[in-house]
Amino acid sequence: MAPKFVMAGEELRRLRERRRLDQQGLAELLNDQLGRSYDRSRISRWEKGTERIPQVVAAALQALEAPAEPTGTGSAVVLAVANQKGGVGKTTSCVNLAFLLARKGLRVLLVDCDGQANATIHFGLDPLAEEHAGHTLDHVLFAQKPPGDAVVRVCNDLLGLVPASINLAAADTELIREPNGSLVLRENIDDIRADWDFIILDCAPNLGLLTISALNAADLVLIPSQTEMLSIAGIPKIMETISKVRRRINPRVAVVGILPTLHKARRAQNRDMMDQLRAMADRFGVPLFDSVPDAADYGNGVTAGRPALEMNPAVPGADIYATVADRLIAHRRERAEEGRHAAA
Ligand SMILES: Nc1ncnc2c1ncn2[C@@H]1O[C@H](COP(=O)(O)OP(=O)(O)OP(=O)(O)O)[C@@H](O)[C@H]1O
Ligand SMILES: [Mg+2]
Repeated sequence: MAPKFVMAGEELRRLRERRRLDQQGLAELLNDQLGRSYDRSRISRWEKGTERIPQVVAAALQALEAPAEPTGTGSAVVLAVANQKGGVGKTTSCVNLAFLLARKGLRVLLVDCDGQANATIHFGLDPLAEEHAGHTLDHVLFAQKPPGDAVVRVCNDLLGLVPASINLAAADTELIREPNGSLVLRENIDDIRADWDFIILDCAPNLGLLTISALNAADLVLIPSQTEMLSIAGIPKIMETISKVRRRINPRVAVVGILPTLHKARRAQNRDMMDQLRAMADRFGVPLFDSVPDAADYGNGVTAGRPALEMNPAVPGADIYATVADRLIAHRRERAEEGRHAAA
């Protein structure tokens, strides 16, 4: 019987270049997906055709290329990172998770949904310059700019960003005037779902219409929270909001977890708060990730206009962000399998 999954060396090289990976990067992507230990020279032999590409590799790469949902709803998993409490690590988590996922060879788009434009600034861009160039979410939502045309490549071309500028601060009042304003973001995201593996929405610290729009568009929500009282006290409000969104508009939205951030493990008070956060996660039946420690590297990343994890892969909390990224990838794989079963 002819082998089911065949891939030529030339095809492999094209696929790798489309994903902007070097041979080592592709080896790491395969090792993550398949639990193997391929290296750069193996990829090189496959590309040159001096060694046959194993079926399991061809199958994994073809699955990666195929739209995750044969139902036609597109392939990206949309993750909203939300919490109405300010300064809890939403933007930091978005930027570093986007980087980690993209470095694994996944196609990642970060959408800055906050008029503070912190994610835009974190990638070293000037929000005003992006505003003048017409590359902002504001242009997509209110000036009929096709979302794909507002994407700027950042982080050495590793991932895409739809920037924000201060104009987005007025989005809530403008969306209210639109019929079904809270669905405008979702329509635009749906238009580009097939172009990306993950679309990450960095929400502002409020539960206004743009944040609700992000929750309406999302498959998953990550809730960063500081391990301190005021932050924890705000969790029931975001959970209640997500449950309303689920009932009214978007039944598929699920909480991927609460992510404790800026954690000072040496402070007894912070440790007590971690217990309270655990009790809160149990009460709402959502996963709780281990805590990302408080570390100066994250602020240094903002100053340098780069993800902290790109500057220092061993930054405290790198393992926690890696766990969250793996959870997101596992979710995408599970969803693709469900889609295949539904279509069979
Ligand atoms: N683990 C961490 N350790 C130390 N500082 C951190 C950590 N995570 C984030 N920070 C810093 O804390 C500040 C707030 O983080 P961030 O901007 O990510 O929060 P946010 O929730 O997006 O804020 P906002 O609600 O204003 O959008 C930033 O200065 C950031 O550099
Ligand atoms: Mg932010």
